[in-house]
Amino acid sequence: MNINGTPYRTIWPLGDDAVEVIDQTKLPHRFETVGLRTVDDCACAIREMIVRGAPLIGATAAYGVALAMREDASDEALDRAHDLLLATRPTAVNLHWALKRMCDALRNHLRGNRAAIAWREAAAICDEDVETCRSIGEHGLKILREAAAKKNSTPLNILTHCNAGWLACVDWGTALAPIYMAHDEGIQTHVWVDETRPRNQGASLTAFELGAHGVPHTIIADNAGGHYMQAGNVDLCIVGTDRVTANGDVANKIGTYLKALAAKDNDIPFYVALPSSTLDLSLQSGNHIPIEERSADELLKMTGRLPDGGIATVDIAAPGSPAANPGFDVTPARLVTGFITERGVCTANEAGLRSLLGRSPAIT
Ligand code: MRU
Repeated sequence: MNINGTPYRTIWPLGDDAVEVIDQTKLPHRFETVGLRTVDDCACAIREMIVRGAPLIGATAAYGVALAMREDASDEALDRAHDLLLATRPTAVNLHWALKRMCDALRNHLRGNRAAIAWREAAAICDEDVETCRSIGEHGLKILREAAAKKNSTPLNILTHCNAGWLACVDWGTALAPIYMAHDEGIQTHVWVDETRPRNQGASLTAFELGAHGVPHTIIADNAGGHYMQAGNVDLCIVGTDRVTANGDVANKIGTYLKALAAKDNDIPFYVALPSSTLDLSLQSGNHIPIEERSADELLKMTGRLPDGGIATVDIAAPGSPAANPGFDVTPARLVTGFITERGVCTANEAGLRSLLGRSPAIT
């Protein structure tokens, strides 16, 4: 992804004893990067959402293990790093996936070799994520081409929720990758960007990304999507996901379920884009997905840019009112038109997922 002409990933090595990430808590007001030098730095970056988005959480955790191995490559240190990182955020299963992959890669090696192996494995996870997202984009692009062909040269209106773009991954994104590719090949696209309360990842991150790439878009209040669907202004929805269970249920940012319901009621295709590292076949249904409860402050306070350029946080509710803040909800598989993955597109059910998995024995 280019920012002011400079190509960026969301995470990259700084020599061989640190990594650098884009500080997403500062966007869209300031583009700042921050160095992570220890496993604690990585855990803190994930917990504080300096990095966020399921694939990027996994990639950062992988480098967290690698940094831990540089200090102490014992089994105990590996376990400590695993447990520390796993406890940072509960819903995105990519975190488990990346930590398991790192531990599997390291366990049977001598201590003296672990630091180098871990560094290579973390870098491989990042490189593979880029290729995976590129493939998701290519498969999703076919859907967008078909949809655009029915539009008689008017823009294809796509609604998305939260941020499942390159900022949520290492590059490209999941839900946004097909949109970037469609835009790049000249398909007229316009994106309705749900602001995505309470943290506003849509307004602050997705809109920033789309703007930087030149994709026409409009930020809307979360509650406006149903209205635009009823008015015929949404051709299809594409969202990302943090975990998909064996029956095809989808955990994604809070509010996704309501969009899927509205899409169903209006006969609008509702696609979910994901890498296979977001599949959790150990859970039969979405009822078992742990839903992160986040700080009430995300709801009760708002941060923004002042006219003088300063950044300020203000209270938006009467003092003393409590707030509840589940970070994710579960969209039942029956509301999902299809999954767009790096292996192709499939129906959102067990049979669909199995048909994709059958194309490669690598996933269990
Ligand atoms: O809480 P976040 O910002 O880490 O949530 C992740 C998301 O942005 C979404 O749920 C996203 O659609 C899935 S990650 C590609």
